[in-house]
Parts: sequence; structure tokens; C-alpha cells
Amino acid sequence: MQRLTNKRILLGVTGSIAAYKSAELIRRLRDEGAEVQVIMTRGAEAFITALTLQAVSGHPVHLHLMDTEAEAGMGHIELARWADAILIAPTSADFMARLAQGRADDLLTAVCLAGDVPLALAPAMNNRMWRDRATQDNAKKLVGRGILLFGPDSGDQACGETGPGRMREVDLLVNDLVDMFDVGSLAGKTVLITAGPTREPIDPVRFISNHSSGKMGYAIAEAAVEAGARVILVSGPTALPVPDRVELVNVETANQMLDAVQSHMPVDLFIATAAVADYRPVQVSENKIKKQDNIMALALEKNPDILAETKAQFPGVFTIGFAAETNDLETYARNKLMNKGVEMIAANWVGSAAGENDGTFGSDNNALQLFWQDGEIELPMASKSKLARSLLAHIVPHFEDYQAKGLPKANNVVNLKDPGKPIA
Ligand code: PMT
Repeated sequence: MQRLTNKRILLGVTGSIAAYKSAELIRRLRDEGAEVQVIMTRGAEAFITALTLQAVSGHPVHLHLMDTEAEAGMGHIELARWADAILIAPTSADFMARLAQGRADDLLTAVCLAGDVPLALAPAMNNRMWRDRATQDNAKKLVGRGILLFGPDSGDQACGETGPGRMREVDLLVNDLVDMFDVGSLAGKTVLITAGPTREPIDPVRFISNHSSGKMGYAIAEAAVEAGARVILVSGPTALPVPDRVELVNVETANQMLDAVQSHMPVDLFIATAAVADYRPVQVSENKIKKQDNIMALALEKNPDILAETKAQFPGVFTIGFAAETNDLETYARNKLMNKGVEMIAANWVGSAAGENDGTFGSDNNALQLFWQDGEIELPMASKSKLARSLLAHIVPHFEDYQAKGLPKANNVVNLKDPGKPIA
């Protein structure tokens, strides 16, 4: 069975002796059903010819940023759009440093900046260069930006020394890529995601709601499908198209969302991105409310906390909440982690605090800080689809650990919405 059917891999080759392995890597990727295009840096050209890589990939090799002919054929932006993933194998120490600086002074660095797809590096360098503080700092910075490192492996090196810095073997790199598309593999798992706002009616023509567009939740649903999961998307009102292969349940109010979520429980993973209205009008007027006094008061009552209640009732479900904050993001996120009893909280800035992000709500981009009991990681600004993939890539290992340790037993189940009523 070919494991990379229909996948488009953009292979970057940089200046390292391991560049000779790139031809074999391309062959193996094509054996697995992938289409491969190659970008070589000037350094790579010293180790292997473009002609060789053109012959094995079946495509002209891309070399220069300022080449008008190449830009007219498939320019760097188009190349970045073409790819489903970018793999740079081998990645030299110099290239890691340039990527860490965010440079765009050759074709490969420019494509990496323009790309909105998973980016993986297979470092290959002398073991002292790999161990050097500067390279380690660069590696940390790149991983912090959601870039994946495949290797390096340890062993005999071309320079005659032994240690970490060898490029991973070609077959292992192919396996890493397959795993990357699986986002750690959610095959056979059911993931329930809430998305969008809720609407709490005041009368037949008015409601209380918020600015959530649903984009973040829908992007996570798509990433979970890509990872092989069965995905149930419980969505408040949005203007988004239904993602492929997702079971969509449309709801309006927080109470409807709670019912829809709980009627699908238990699942393996529950990810609550919805911006649920915390309060709803005590009374919903049957008829349109007419304008009367200058000041009008609306009595509100608390909505159920879908996230906290569901986690309390289904403790075995690995649960991730979101936190939208305008200030003290970490403090509030950590409070939510504890108070709601969930495994992880993905926090984002909203409102003017979100700065360049136009307020997060409705934007195509976002940045997240992911917190768990004894750790955290920053997922930098990216399109919501890219961010969703990287979020899942970080969630899945925690989920796998959680499952390996054995699930907590079901609570003495209390229906918090209606404490007298048992949960089915
Ligand atoms: O939809 P977009 O335009 O793409 O915007 C994305 C987003 C900003 C809505 C999203 O990234 C996000 O932050 N969602 C959570 C927003 C929110 O309501 O945060 P909160 O801090 O108020 O709630 C904390 C958590 O409890 C959330 O997981 C929320 O789904 C959940 N909750 C809150 C209240 C409630 N009554 N029930 C809940 O389940």
C-alpha cells in the first residue's frame, strides 16, 4: 500500500555531504505515491547536480529566487501553495540559522516563509556543529514555531567522527513524513469539536451572541479528519461551508450545544473551541419587544458550562478547552485548566490585545499558547489551518500518554444541569 498517495512534497536540499542521499529519498517518496518537486540551495549544488534530482523527481529543479523565467513558470509563492508539506533533507547548520532568523534571501528560505504547510527539517552536520549552543538555540526556536525536526541520528560521520548529526536514514524519513500527515495518527478515534458562537434569544428577532466565526474550530475539525479521526463538529451559527467527512450538528443556544455534546459522549477527544455565551435572557419574549423607556434592563441567567460539566461527567475523555483573553492570559488559562478539570487549555488573545491578528475572532490567522499541568508551548501566528495541524501534533502525544496510563474511572455521575436527573 502506498502511504503518501496524492501528497505533494516539496523537497529542499541544502549544502551537506548527505545531499547525495536526496536522490534515493525522492525515489522512495515517489514509490509511496508522492509527487516531488525539488528546490536546491547554492550549497547543495556543490554536492549533487540538479540534473540528477530532475531525472529522479520527473520535474525541473528550482534553483534561484530572482530567476524571471522560473518565477514566470512556478514562482516561489506558487511553489509554496503547491506543496502539502515541505521537507528539507539534508538541512545544514547554516540553513537552520537562516531559517531561525526568518531570512528570505534565496528561493528555499522564501518558500519556507511563504508556505502555509507543515515544514520538517532533517538536520545533517558534524556532531560538534550540532551540539553547538548556537545550533541548539536555533533548533529550539524552530521547534517553538511548530517546525518539525526529523533527527538527526547518531553514528559514524563523513568527517570520520562519531556522534549526533547524521541525517536520518531515508526509510525513516519517509516514515516520519507518513506520521506527520497522520498528525500522530487519530485513526479509529472519535473527536468531538465545538465551534462558533452560541445565540441566546431575547425575542423572535434579537439575540445575545459574540464575534466567533467558527474558523478555528472548523480548521481543527479538518485537521482531525486529515489525521484519520471520525469527527463530530457541534457548531453554533456560522457562515462556513461544511468541511468534508465531518458529522456536523448545528445548534443555536448553549443548552442545545450541551445536549448535542453530551448525546455523543463518550468520545476519545473533546476539543471545545466554541465561544459559548455565559448568560442567556431569563425570559424569551414570544413577540418582538417594543421600544418603551429610555433605559431597559435585561435579566440574564447563567448558562451551563459545557466544558466543565462534560469533563466532570465523562472524566475518561481527553479534553482540551480554549481560553479567549484580553489580559493576564497565562493566569486565566491556568485557572481554567484547574477549575474546569481539563487536560489542556489552548489560550489566545482577543480584542485589541490580539494586535496584528485583527482581534482573532473572524481572522484567518491566530496564535495559541497551549498549557497543561506541567508544561506549556507557544504556537506562533499562522493561518488557522496550519495552526490547527500543529495544535493536534502537540495534543496527540499527550492524548496517547493519557490513554497508555489508563483512563480514570467514570465519576459518580451528577447531571449538573439538572442535579436531580440521572445521566443516560
Ligand atoms: O471562531 P473564530 O472566529 O475562529 O475565533 C476563535 C475563538 C477566539 C472563538 C477561539 O479560538 C476561542 O478562543 N474559543 C473559546 C472562546 C471562549 O469562549 O473562551 P472562554 O474563556 O469564555 O471559555 C473557556 C472554555 O470554556 C472554552 O473552551 C469554551 O468553549 C468553554 N465554555 C465557556 C462557557 C460555557 N458556558 N461553556 C463552555 O463550554
